[in-house]
Amino acid sequence: MPQIIVLPHVELCPEGAVFEAKTGTSVCDALLSNGIEIEHACEKSCACTTCHVVVREGFNSLEEAEEKEEDLLDKAWGLEPNSRLSCQALVADSDLTVQIPKYTINHAKEEH
Ligand code: FES
Repeated sequence: MPQIIVLPHVELCPEGAVFEAKTGTSVCDALLSNGIEIEHACEKSCACTTCHVVVREGFNSLEEAEEKEEDLLDKAWGLEPNSRLSCQALVADSDLTVQIPKYTINHAKEEH
């Protein structure tokens, strides 16, 4: 099974994490089922940006984002060329290195 490396995130996984995920699982589900409580405000229906992640390695193994995801990503805090909405990005057959941005748009609004 492909391995997912999660880079440290101050609140969600201060030490970082490494785990395996089944091909076809969304990155969001893989994180949640390994105890990393990434936000998913719209319940993974591609209607928010709170599950935004940056795929540092393995980005090209993922299927391309659909237009709706791209449009939403434009509004995400800390957008990068390798950004994805984790509930829409399905693990393929390659290892991934994932970074959870420091803020989501919810936090950015409340705290800044
Ligand atoms: S949880 Fe809302 S877009 Fe992923």
